[in-house]
Amino acid sequence: MSWRDYPKVELHLHHEGAAPPDFIRRLAQEKSVDLSRIFNEDGSYAYRDFAHFLTVYEAACTVLQSPEDYRRLTLAVLEQSAEAGVVYSETFLSPDFCGGGDVGAWREYLAAIEEAAAEAERAHGITLRGIVTCIRHFGPERARPIAICAAETRGPFLTGFGMAGAEMVGRPGDYAWAFDAAREAGLRLTCHAGEWGGPDMVADTLDALKVERIGHGINAIDDLALVDRLAEDGVTLEVCPGSNVFLQAVDSWQAHPIQRLRERGAKVTVSTDDPPFFKTDMVSEFDNLERTFGWGEEDFAEMGRNGLDAAFCDADTKARIA
Ligand code: ADE
Ligand code: ZN
Repeated sequence: MSWRDYPKVELHLHHEGAAPPDFIRRLAQEKSVDLSRIFNEDGSYAYRDFAHFLTVYEAACTVLQSPEDYRRLTLAVLEQSAEAGVVYSETFLSPDFCGGGDVGAWREYLAAIEEAAAEAERAHGITLRGIVTCIRHFGPERARPIAICAAETRGPFLTGFGMAGAEMVGRPGDYAWAFDAAREAGLRLTCHAGEWGGPDMVADTLDALKVERIGHGINAIDDLALVDRLAEDGVTLEVCPGSNVFLQAVDSWQAHPIQRLRERGAKVTVSTDDPPFFKTDMVSEFDNLERTFGWGEEDFAEMGRNGLDAAFCDADTKARIA
């Protein structure tokens, strides 16, 4: 069966990480910025490993310089997601790249992103919500103004706060101020953990940041008591299997723990993370899950339900999508 037209919910997508390489190349040409070092000859993004991926990601961001660039980016990203059958998506938005953490500038970027999201919803029937994301390797001090940007712009569109970046920098508690400020402002919380760190990193993230979702979380599988805790507390894992295989966070599709996490009772969802960087999309994720674990319609329906249950949008939006 082709999963292309199957309606999908995606909770873990980085806005800049979803930028088609042709889009970034065109912006670089328009702005006369030499980004040739970040592309392979076939036009795809070029990097060696996760650390280098983060460097290339940030280099691509240097040509995203204005709200208008983000308006165009949002249209390109949502067209791509809709083409893969995504009907509801949450993207990570980083004020670090959108105005450098200044609230006034961030408001302008956010307005452009929201405007483009509304246009894409009319054109393709895809609904987008935003999660402001601080970047762990930029340090706890940088996370504070980012949380303030999030708190100041919370609304029907901007519903969450999270953290991405190099997981092995610092400990979760270092970022508690930012997560506390976001929670007090009424934002829903998620954080990358257990992609590179072990179960201790996932447990510390739950304890110190009190998040309701975990980005990746796959290494929780090494501590079954922790998986039981995730299941009992209803913490949803935003699993991105293709990303994990491509970045070699796991050895292979067969070795991926998504099915074992699920069988132990953890709530899992499926997302692409940074699709062009990992040569994936939601159709490819579904195809690989079908091929590797024999997943079919029942399993993908469960992923959709888990996604909507854990989505950060309001109940009316959920009811409209369901
Ligand atoms: N930023 C973009 N993709 C990421 C990933 N897979 N892990 C951490 N930070 C990221
Ligand atoms: Zn991610």
